[in-house]
Amino acid sequence: MIQIQNLVKTYSSRQGNVIAIDDVSLCIPKDAIYGIIGLSGAGKSTLVRCLNLLEKPTSGQIIIAGQDLTKLSGKALRQARQKIGMIFQHFYLLQSRTVTENIAFPLEIAGLSKQEISMRVDELLHLVGLEDKAHAYPSQLSGGQKQRVGIARALATKPQVLLCDEATSALDPQTTLSILNLLRDINQKLGLTIIIITHEMKVVKEICTDVAVLHEAQIVENGPVESVFIHPQSEIARQFISSVFSHELPTDLLKEIATHQNSEVVRIQFLGSRASDPIITDLLRTCNVRANILYGNIDHIRSTLFGTLTLELQGNSEQLRQAHDYLASRELNVEVIQRAL
Ligand SMILES: Nc1ncnc2c1ncn2[C@@H]1O[C@H](COP(=O)(O)OP(=O)(O)O)[C@@H](O)[C@H]1O
Ligand SMILES: [Mg+2]
Repeated sequence: MIQIQNLVKTYSSRQGNVIAIDDVSLCIPKDAIYGIIGLSGAGKSTLVRCLNLLEKPTSGQIIIAGQDLTKLSGKALRQARQKIGMIFQHFYLLQSRTVTENIAFPLEIAGLSKQEISMRVDELLHLVGLEDKAHAYPSQLSGGQKQRVGIARALATKPQVLLCDEATSALDPQTTLSILNLLRDINQKLGLTIIIITHEMKVVKEICTDVAVLHEAQIVENGPVESVFIHPQSEIARQFISSVFSHELPTDLLKEIATHQNSEVVRIQFLGSRASDPIITDLLRTCNVRANILYGNIDHIRSTLFGTLTLELQGNSEQLRQAHDYLASRELNVEVIQRAL
């Protein structure tokens, strides 16, 4: 488990002080794939660099497996850092070394024997699916293959934590998915904590178990991914979510509906098995309302189905109330978008 407590990082520059991280506290469970999302300049890279003490925090604590890294120095800090692997957007591979030699690099520094290194590199090549590229140079690899080398190198010294700073931001959507699937496999197989820094909500939606939204140096909300997606608290979180689930209706359509009498536009959201429930049939059978489907979509958040249905309901106030009672009894998340009575 990782605890970030009251972390502050300020930079002084000619223009004055920049507060890059402003009193951030987070608790990251051991088996999590924890997403930290924010716009460019929000402080994401600073936060992740503070986590492995590449950047010295101005104040606050970073506690990993009970050990406060900010209190360590010299050899103890180097040892603690070996327990934290990191991958980057631009890979940072050594161009004059082969794939095998890149992966071997941290093991050489750690002082392992040639034979130990060779065995470990073989294991890692297998883990990331690059056995056939063992002797290739970085310039001969695709972006996705380069990131696989980055991952193998980061895992070489058997870290407990893997930090990913925009690790898929330079990759196309298909390759992004294959790298995210690899990270999920690694999280499950090796039981290591993964922290994913990103500006892309689709990354969070695919694999993260939890998410924190970093905005202007502060965490504005955090929690399990499903609950942040269904009940976002901040405007910035809503914006990120609408980049992957856009359920907005055309304004002309809403204006037209606003002229109807006794009409309500409602958005219903549901998770998991409820996605296959016959909601509309049951709604119409139970309550004497008319329903017009304006929008429907089923997608997923990790492997959980996530459905959205936008309806115009027509009926008198008693009928509409009954419809709401019915939807509430089904434990669906219902939001009234527009009401014309
Ligand atoms: N070494 C530095 N010196 C001065 N300011 C910095 C430094 N690194 C980052 N910053 C500033 O800190 C803020 C957060 O930057 P950063 O952590 O890189 O954000 P992100 O990764 O979310 O884009 C920005 O305003 C940036 O200009
Ligand atoms: Mg950054």
